[in-house]
Amino acid sequence: MNKDGKMILLSGVKPTGRTHIGNYFGAMRQWKDMEESTKYDCFFMIADYHTLNFVQSAVAMRQLTLDMALDYLAIGLDPKKVILFKQSDVSAHTELTWIFNTLVTVPYLMRGHAYKDAETQSKEISVGTFDYPVLMASDILLYDTDIVPVGQDQKQHIEYARDIAGKFNNVYGDTFKHPEPFIVKDVAVVPGIDGRKMSKSYGNTIPLFAEYDEIQERVMAIVTDNGLDFPQNVYTIHRLLKSEGELKPLYEANKGRYKALKEALIEDLEVFIAPLRARRKALAEDEVAIWKILEEGARKAREIADKKMGEVKNKIGVKIN
Ligand code: ADP
Ligand code: TRP
Repeated sequence: MNKDGKMILLSGVKPTGRTHIGNYFGAMRQWKDMEESTKYDCFFMIADYHTLNFVQSAVAMRQLTLDMALDYLAIGLDPKKVILFKQSDVSAHTELTWIFNTLVTVPYLMRGHAYKDAETQSKEISVGTFDYPVLMASDILLYDTDIVPVGQDQKQHIEYARDIAGKFNNVYGDTFKHPEPFIVKDVAVVPGIDGRKMSKSYGNTIPLFAEYDEIQERVMAIVTDNGLDFPQNVYTIHRLLKSEGELKPLYEANKGRYKALKEALIEDLEVFIAPLRARRKALAEDEVAIWKILEEGARKAREIADKKMGEVKNKIGVKIN
């Protein structure tokens, strides 16, 4: 809780590519709802230092960061109500990561799902990839976060943050809060057009700000070879936009007619995406204003994070008074 009795909420996404409807329904939509509630004091972060594990081009990094900021604003996050910032602007995140690194063990981090996945692909894993959960724990713990709205795949990372808070508190005394994940069950995993989890890294996404042609092309490519009366993957995506009651007559009337059902989904996606797309285009007209919003957010975040770092440095004995 903050001093006004509000719960502190923090979340973020790493800017590694185009935001898709899985990111939106799995995580970002909840952010918007929670921003509007008076119960939360919200921090939304662009995790650019996490992205550095995947993107090593300054031009691409700037573009991806700008794109992510536009996405945050286009879904309606209001920088007057929430703190919107990028991770690299608050050096306390990496500083605290170092301190946590001295407490966390190698075998413990080797149990990370993301690390294990990376290991199956290549043995040449960067230290940054290995340490990913520790940086994420710092992001969360620095702000005394109570609640972290994310998709199911991030659950383990929140557990890491809780464990790391516990470890620090055990050694140095009560300093960090134990954050809770907030995961919406119905949309815990949005399927991609190939039926696997929708993910930028699988190339199976429907982008959140897709143009109409792109929506058409992506929906027509949804895999439907399940032999059922109604196409499971089409239906699951459709359910994000409409209730069971609304969809039942449509799917009953079109049993086995996959093309007609896909056409209906295309139209419903367009109705949902068109206003978001328009808003994003309007925001993109003024790039300078976007960087200013991030700068202002960083200033506020730094104030809080630096204060917490002062407390941490005191506890570990590197700050004399
Ligand atoms: P991606 O897998 O596309 O790279 P990220 O790892 O950047 O996605 O995830 C950003 C946020 O979106 C996280 O909170 C994550 O849990 C959520 N998310 C990503 N993909 C999905 C999905 N298919 N269904 C539900 N939530 C998702
Ligand atoms: N690891 C998260 C993801 O891939 C992004 C992230 C970084 C994050 N720091 C965070 C999410 C802190 C919530 C809180 O989606």
